[in-house]
Amino acid sequence: SLEHYHVSDEFGFVLPEPLEDLPPYYQPWMEIARNVPELIGSHSLRACIQQMPLLETDPLQGHRELRLAHLALSVMTMGYVWQEGENETVRVLPHTLAVPYWSVSQKLGLPPILTHADAVLVNWKKTDPQGEFNMENLELLFTLPGGKSVHGFFMVTLLVELAAVPGLRAIPQVINGVHQDNVTMVTRALESISLAIDGMKEALKLMHVYVEPSVFYGIMRIYLSGWKDNPSMPDGLVYESVQVEPMEYSGGSAAQSSLLHCFDELLGVKHEASSGAFLKRMRSHYMPPAHARFIQDISLSRPSLRDFVLERATEPLTAAYEHCVARLVALRNYHINVVSRFITVPAARAKELRLRGDGSEQEHRTITHAPTALEERGTGGSGIMSFLKTIRDQTRASTTSRS
Ligand code: ALA
Repeated sequence: SLEHYHVSDEFGFVLPEPLEDLPPYYQPWMEIARNVPELIGSHSLRACIQQMPLLETDPLQGHRELRLAHLALSVMTMGYVWQEGENETVRVLPHTLAVPYWSVSQKLGLPPILTHADAVLVNWKKTDPQGEFNMENLELLFTLPGGKSVHGFFMVTLLVELAAVPGLRAIPQVINGVHQDNVTMVTRALESISLAIDGMKEALKLMHVYVEPSVFYGIMRIYLSGWKDNPSMPDGLVYESVQVEPMEYSGGSAAQSSLLHCFDELLGVKHEASSGAFLKRMRSHYMPPAHARFIQDISLSRPSLRDFVLERATEPLTAAYEHCVARLVALRNYHINVVSRFITVPAARAKELRLRGDGSEQEHRTITHAPTALEERGTGGSGIMSFLKTIRDQTRASTTSRS
């Protein structure tokens, strides 16, 4: 069952009812973490973190407290590292933050950096608990600089996760159907997955409504970026009193969501070497271990769906499989469009403004301050456009027709 992998029937990979507060002992963390944008604005976040008491992590009880602690410590860490932009980075994360952060990360099997599992999966509450899941009724627990666009970016991503849930529920049906040689069951389950993937695309469209491209590009992105494959932090980061040598961790990436990993494994999408290696690294080190086990078990299930489809070669089944692959290609194409509007276009505009020196005051306040290290890269460190296009093409190539 899905629960075995900490996947909820109702919420999928999203943590149901995340905690909103930690026990009073952790007040010093929460007070800083809840004010990260203001403290960055006054250039005093680093000083606050340096003066923070060193707290024990043993009193943290249960998965939900640990996840909330990881989120709070992650938001503080991103703020600490990037407070002064890409040119005044730090070499060391102070022990008051690094020591408990390392410990909580070890307990959860998550890396000591902000991931999708933090910023999206546990970073939400409903304003009206009885109300619906929609943008107006969702709040962030913690935020970063960028105002309403931060809420927009994380909560639209949350809605994409939720839209996928009927598709996740259909995965065991596909696998069982293949085992039982039940063509009808597999066909129906694949149809549910196609619909869910379309629902994810619909949810993703809200990015255009709730996120301002210049704010995303010029203000928010740096706080999502990491210290691996990032020219502005070439040596990584020393986690003080944890390890003397610096360590490198990738910033946030959609590849940290378990969703498409599941659908790829189920459908038998084969990734090319370099993008495949990035996806595998995200899967092994940047998602909750129970979710990574779910993906792994999907990939190990035999006979594979693709072999089953090829062998049966019956029309509705083949069509349902092909349709699923086509919907996944369409979702990836849509994602490429989003990235071009939110990254490629503002990057070109920022370059132009730096060369010509004109542009509105608003543009100068936002996009010309964007880190140059992230012009062609995703915050996760990939060569973002070629990465996404390769993956899209590999998805298309998994179709069973030999045209
Ligand atoms: N990975 C996204 C970016 O590159 C967040 O900005």
